[in-house]
Amino acid sequence: MFTLAVETGEDWWEVEALYDLCFAPGREALSSYRLRDGVDPVAELSLVARDDDGILAGAIRYWPVLIGPHTALLLGPVAVHPTHQGEGLGGFLIEGSLERAAPLGWARVMLVGDAPYYQRFGFEKLDGVIMPPPTNPERVLGRALIEEAWAGVSGEVVSARKS
Ligand SMILES: CC(C)(COP(=O)(O)OP(=O)(O)OC[C@H]1O[C@@H](n2cnc3c(N)ncnc32)[C@H](O)[C@@H]1OP(=O)(O)O)[C@@H](O)C(=O)NCCC(=O)NCCS
Repeated sequence: MFTLAVETGEDWWEVEALYDLCFAPGREALSSYRLRDGVDPVAELSLVARDDDGILAGAIRYWPVLIGPHTALLLGPVAVHPTHQGEGLGGFLIEGSLERAAPLGWARVMLVGDAPYYQRFGFEKLDGVIMPPPTNPERVLGRALIEEAWAGVSGEVVSARKS
């Protein structure tokens, strides 16, 4: 049994350690991290999953990004501890967080990831939405949280950092 909870300040370094374990070294060099620099994550949607003993088993974070005048959620990082992968926890984190997003006013979500995994959650390739290089455009995926939310949205994805 896993319980989802909003990530707190006390969880931060434990989640960082989980990400370090689950991703290849140098994850912070990825171009998606440049969109996160200096921007707070979306606190209400960034969740931790703990087992009955309180052990961290998975985590998901989101950041706000801009495409022209449009705001979107950037999903990720999401990771599940290797001992719990394949048990549905990744899906639990993704669906459990996204179901909170539309009521909070978010219309659209995007990510950079493997289409064969994310298409089961309704993510499709986003044509014309350009992540900072180097990013394989085939891995730029999106899902509308309200009807037609990606229609007419195109251009470069930029940081939501207030300059
Ligand atoms: C990707 C990840 C979050 C999925 O979490 P999970 O709890 O193992 O996933 P679920 O149990 O919800 O789903 C498991 C299914 O997804 C598939 N899957 C997992 N990662 C996949 C990938 N990268 N591409 C295609 N399918 C994938 C599994 O084969 C399994 O398929 P099945 O249902 O047909 O058996 C987890 O494997 C992980 O932390 N990986 C390392 C970090 C990472 O790559 N994060 C995502 C960055 S884009």
